[in-house]
Amino acid sequence: MTKILIARNLPDSVVAEARALFDVTYRDRPEPLSRDEMCSSLASYDGVLMTLGDLYDASVFAEAGAPRARILANFGVGYNHVDVAAAKAAGLVVTNTPGAVTDATADIALTLMLMSCRRAGEGERLLRSGAWQGWHPVQMLGLHLSGKTVGILGMGRIGQAIARRCHFGFGMKVAYVSRSEKALEFPATRMDSAEALAAAVDVLVTALPGGAETRHTVNAGVLAAMKPSGHFINIARGDVVDEAALIAALQDRRIAGAGLDVYEQEPRVPEALRALDNAVLLPHLGTAALEVREEMGRMAVANLRAFFAGEDVPNPV
Ligand code: 8YV
Repeated sequence: MTKILIARNLPDSVVAEARALFDVTYRDRPEPLSRDEMCSSLASYDGVLMTLGDLYDASVFAEAGAPRARILANFGVGYNHVDVAAAKAAGLVVTNTPGAVTDATADIALTLMLMSCRRAGEGERLLRSGAWQGWHPVQMLGLHLSGKTVGILGMGRIGQAIARRCHFGFGMKVAYVSRSEKALEFPATRMDSAEALAAAVDVLVTALPGGAETRHTVNAGVLAAMKPSGHFINIARGDVVDEAALIAALQDRRIAGAGLDVYEQEPRVPEALRALDNAVLLPHLGTAALEVREEMGRMAVANLRAFFAGEDVPNPV
């Protein structure tokens, strides 16, 4: 029977589904695989269901030589923790779970937009500290989103889901930067650079894949182009923004706020960032809802099933 390693703790229904199809070894633990575990996963299993934090870089494939494993089924849409070229060179197929993550991730972007613009984190901290003096007409004024402009960096599935919520839900104008012109069901202005977009919008949101190609797309120059009243939101990957430059911009109040779900060195979040009142910081909650994680798991198992049945995998990367 085909031997599969499930590398991390998953919802029970996903594990049960995998067990019905394969000889499953279930590593029911939250922490990422160690380098040794990754190397032995390639040597000892036919397929591995793995996820964020399991850092299958080129050196792991180099050490594996001619591995037994033939597929890495990533749980999640983002796969910048896998060196896909090295995986392919070692004879492995890599798959991911697009679609399943879209709405939940867009919802977290809107959560962060509202929290940052309406100062929700700061307000909650004030109240919990016991220092709230009571309502008054100009207490904690934030940025009103209705009618403002959102700028989306990366207009793929998730970017479009964010834009749709902003347009239809909040009456916001939409501008974006994308490699290609998109056919959208709402009005949106395509701009030709991250700087131009940053300068034109009230809220700048990243929805780009992580990895070398997009690393530090939001750099000091892009942040400097933003309005002082602007907010920056990142639900993509931490390395899409130069975190040090973002911290400096927030410290100097050159932008009004930031809402972040992802960080350059997760789970390490710089003390300087944690100290900032104008930053809303979530612990990578993008898809953290049971039914979403179940759907992601089902997609990962479906990729494994198709592969070992000799069919085309539904979600190759
Ligand atoms: C996942 C995500 O929960 O799907 C992704 O790429 O960013 C998250 O929402 C996590 O990264 C596991 O892949």
